[in-house]
Amino acid sequence: MSTIDPNEILPHHLHRMLLTAIAPRPIAFASTIDSAGKANLSPFSCFNVFGVNPSTLIFSPSRSGRTNELKDTYLNVKEVPEVVINVVTYSMVNQQNLASTEFPRGVNEFFKSGFTPVPSEKIRPFRVKESPVQIECKVRQVIETGNGAGAANLIICEVVLIHVNDKVLDRNGAIDTRKLDLVGRMGADNYVRASGRALFTLEKPSGKNAIGVDSLPESVRLSAFLTGNDLGRLGSMVNMPTAVEIENYMGAQKFRKISVDVSADTGKLTEETHKEAHRLLAENNKYEALILLLAADSLLMADLQ
Ligand SMILES: Cc1cc2nc3c(=O)[nH]c(=O)nc-3n(C[C@H](O)[C@H](O)[C@H](O)COP(=O)(O)O)c2cc1C
Repeated sequence: MSTIDPNEILPHHLHRMLLTAIAPRPIAFASTIDSAGKANLSPFSCFNVFGVNPSTLIFSPSRSGRTNELKDTYLNVKEVPEVVINVVTYSMVNQQNLASTEFPRGVNEFFKSGFTPVPSEKIRPFRVKESPVQIECKVRQVIETGNGAGAANLIICEVVLIHVNDKVLDRNGAIDTRKLDLVGRMGADNYVRASGRALFTLEKPSGKNAIGVDSLPESVRLSAFLTGNDLGRLGSMVNMPTAVEIENYMGAQKFRKISVDVSADTGKLTEETHKEAHRLLAENNKYEALILLLAADSLLMADLQ
């Protein structure tokens, strides 16, 4: 491991390191206006949702790391504390990149990047027609974290109206992640596309209990054939199989076949059973994987005695 003191490296190296490590980040495509009503549109990936009661989104147009200049978006929300946060899909990614050009203040990036401005209903800045989710927000608070180059300016927003294109809804009227095709920002010039094989599902731990990795026998915890993800799946089981269940499993044909085939070789028994458990876990058959591993462990323990 390299250990880095943030005060001992150049700010632009620190910026690159942190923005590469803390990723992927969602992108707020922020539409604002100045007090004369001139529109501005820029992407910000220092962005997220922080609560719903009140619904709170925060993004940060920081001071330029090179020139220490303040961004037009920040200056605009100080004049007109309203913003539309539009999500960015893969089909929008090149135009949003163009909109991030540091055009002089007053240049309308809707026109520069070729996006279509649509009037909002509750606030003055425009929405981006091409974005499937457009969120009208009032700015509730602005926190400047410093006045040096690269310092963050947190724009704390409350959602007042949300517009969702029907095309990204599922049949229950909820937003469908797979239909959205969002992009996220990684370090440097890298992006990630949240679709296809990049998306996967993971059940939330159920309720308030789980057996935990620490409840698994040492032969399982230190297995050379099980991965950290396997241990995570096993540890998320709510109950340990009972001694009777394990005994019944040991008598079942599948386990008897493995254990008879390799009974003379404990190393082979571990390898066969752990590889089979790994396969079962890939199919999300956590119960059988756990009981198989416990049965194998109990055979090993009996062998040692
Ligand atoms: C995907 C993406 C994410 C960005 N995220 C940020 C960010 O979080 N904070 C920031 O200050 N600049 C960010 N930038 C750069 C700004 O978009 C850029 O400085 C822009 O010109 C600011 O526009 P403005 O001065 O009109 O507000 C990002 C650029 C891109 C392409």
